[in-house]
Amino acid sequence: MGHFQPCKGRNSESPREHGGRKRLRIAIDGPAGAGKSTVARKVADILGYTYLDTGAMYRALALKALRQGLNPADEAEIQQMLAATDLDVELAPDGQRTFVDGIEFTQDIRTPAVSQAASDISALSVCRHFCVDLQRALADRQSLVLDGRDIGTYVLPQATVKFFVTASLEIRARRRYEEMLQKGENGNYEDVLLDMQQRDYNDSNRALAPTKQAEDAILIDTSGRPVD
Ligand code: DC
Repeated sequence: MGHFQPCKGRNSESPREHGGRKRLRIAIDGPAGAGKSTVARKVADILGYTYLDTGAMYRALALKALRQGLNPADEAEIQQMLAATDLDVELAPDGQRTFVDGIEFTQDIRTPAVSQAASDISALSVCRHFCVDLQRALADRQSLVLDGRDIGTYVLPQATVKFFVTASLEIRARRRYEEMLQKGENGNYEDVLLDMQQRDYNDSNRALAPTKQAEDAILIDTSGRPVD
């Protein structure tokens, strides 16, 4: 864990994209259900930049662990798994596709079981290294709008603009619950709220790169505010 250091200065190395346009990194961090991905997608769309959903990476690794019957909180088991894991994201204009060992995981990672396992696995330092290396490599190549928990504080501390997007726990749970209903899934509001509370606690209290507003981030509370 000692070698888990912020990557200072990295983003100033190559400030232009191919074609001469200034390379931008827009970091959108915050807790689950705050509206990060909706806003990030829209911002990327309006500005003509690519959107990277970093949570999908942790979700994909969590799903592989679950499918292999591993404990997503067990560092030794997960370290072994990662040594034999090829994680890839395809940043297509019509949405991000996530692949593990050549198999597409894009749809299957959106379940409550995977959400919880992703929260557990993302607390492990081996897992964070694995995902952060990939995130920085992608951000070295192109302009990105990234959403996550630690983009502004750890992954890209020199991001061009940083936002911390949040909303009350009840509102975030209500949004997630309504999304489930729209998708025709079963569930009840109280369970969604409790899951979200648990995940908030895990993600904000872990030792490594917890969910946290960067000092230079702009705070946006989306409670009661429309997406636009
Ligand atoms: O944003 P999401 O719900 O898809 O993220 C799933 C989990 O991954 C979340 O509980 C915390 C973790 N995560 C993280 O630790 N760092 C990120 N940059 C993104 C997600």
